[in-house]
Amino acid sequence: MNASPSMIAEGGEEALRAWWMPFTHNRYFKAHPRLIASASGAYYSLVDGRRVFDGLSGLWCCPLGHSPAGVVKAVQEQVATLDFAPSFQMGHPAAFSLASRLVKLAGRPRDRVFFVNSGSEAVDTALKVAVAYHRARGEASRTRIIGRERAYHGVGMGGISVGGIPANRKMFAPLMIPGVDHLPHTFDTSKMGYSRGQPDWGLHLADELERIVALHDASNIAAVIVEPMQGSTGVIVPPKGYLARLREICSKHGILLIFDEVITGFGRLGTPFAADFFDVKPDMITFAKAVNNAAVPLGGVMVDESIHDAFMNGPEHLIEFFHGYTYSGHPLGIAAAHATLDELAPTGAAPNAGLIGQAAALTPVLEDAIHSLRGEPLVTDIRNLGLAAAIDVAPIAGKPALRAFQVFEQALNRGLMLRFTGETLALAPPFISSEREVRDAVEALRESLRATAALN
Ligand SMILES: Cc1ncc(COP(=O)(O)O)c(C=O)c1O
Repeated sequence: MNASPSMIAEGGEEALRAWWMPFTHNRYFKAHPRLIASASGAYYSLVDGRRVFDGLSGLWCCPLGHSPAGVVKAVQEQVATLDFAPSFQMGHPAAFSLASRLVKLAGRPRDRVFFVNSGSEAVDTALKVAVAYHRARGEASRTRIIGRERAYHGVGMGGISVGGIPANRKMFAPLMIPGVDHLPHTFDTSKMGYSRGQPDWGLHLADELERIVALHDASNIAAVIVEPMQGSTGVIVPPKGYLARLREICSKHGILLIFDEVITGFGRLGTPFAADFFDVKPDMITFAKAVNNAAVPLGGVMVDESIHDAFMNGPEHLIEFFHGYTYSGHPLGIAAAHATLDELAPTGAAPNAGLIGQAAALTPVLEDAIHSLRGEPLVTDIRNLGLAAAIDVAPIAGKPALRAFQVFEQALNRGLMLRFTGETLALAPPFISSEREVRDAVEALRESLRATAALN
């Protein structure tokens, strides 16, 4: 029998012992649990009955808000019709139609899509494709991957290796893939503090790729992977021209460029993909999260046709790429994605007719509101792009990351859920939010900052 929310709440620490929670301060949490009972639209209900605005769209993954009717219906019908279908040597029609829908949405109609179940799996899959591609075309020495400092590419061995978050890496050194190097991150508040949208400073940092290529030699480098906008480490917006310069350098040296669009994919910047927003075409795009509003785990990699075709040799009865997951193309995840795309970008409608258009329309509202926090206590930087924004707060001496957590707690008490990491608080509301809700969320943050400053 499932434990009801009240049973868990009443059971105290004992009832909370067994789940070792991910990316969570487990001891503090279990002493001060924050439990969600249900969700609907842009709001969560906590077990104590409080209603909380979902200021981060789940974990950047619920642009439609929670339990949207079309997605609920699609998943319910799917589980009753075809609950599971093997994707090894068999297939089901909706996965094929979703793949072609996705590549059309991305304006990459000849791409192939490899389905996985999470962003981490999408990243590890893209890295495998990159290395295997070069080998298949006779350049087996191209194995090195270039990531970037402050990047988050999930928690697979590939993802932490190319990622640039020290805490995610330091315990696992012997497990990381060899031959990885990192571009410098592009964040410097002294040069770009309080930028609205893309900062003017920092294009030169893309040229660091030339230095890395010279160091290792292009003949040893398979791919560069970047988040077009670094989401998890705090909405770090690429400098103007930066991604186009990376594209230029990669093309010059025969290096693949991978955009990790697990956060930016499906409208967060007001365009279907960040590749559209920045008008830069990567060779592969990883996606997950918003593809199906996170109703069922689903991710994937869009792969340029020329890369796919390099694998299509040898006898036709043999497998070309030895990779895949039991749940690749899971019927429930696929059904949820079709229903989600019906809302985000309805087929045949004008590009801004769906909720991606709504994200674009809300962007200036969020930008104006969040920058109005400049001068509030504790605030040291504010930045934004698309329907995403972050503020940094001054750390408490000797207690890194505590201040942002205090602001988070204050906000939760005021009916707003944010994401805190390090000294940063991020806001990325669902696309269904009203202008009023976006402004109210920022006002709740303002009050939370003042209340936190009064604490210390
Ligand atoms: C850019 C990026 N890549 C990969 C991931 C990992 O995704 P998942 O948690 O679904 O494995 C994330 C998660 O936030 C992400 O933001």
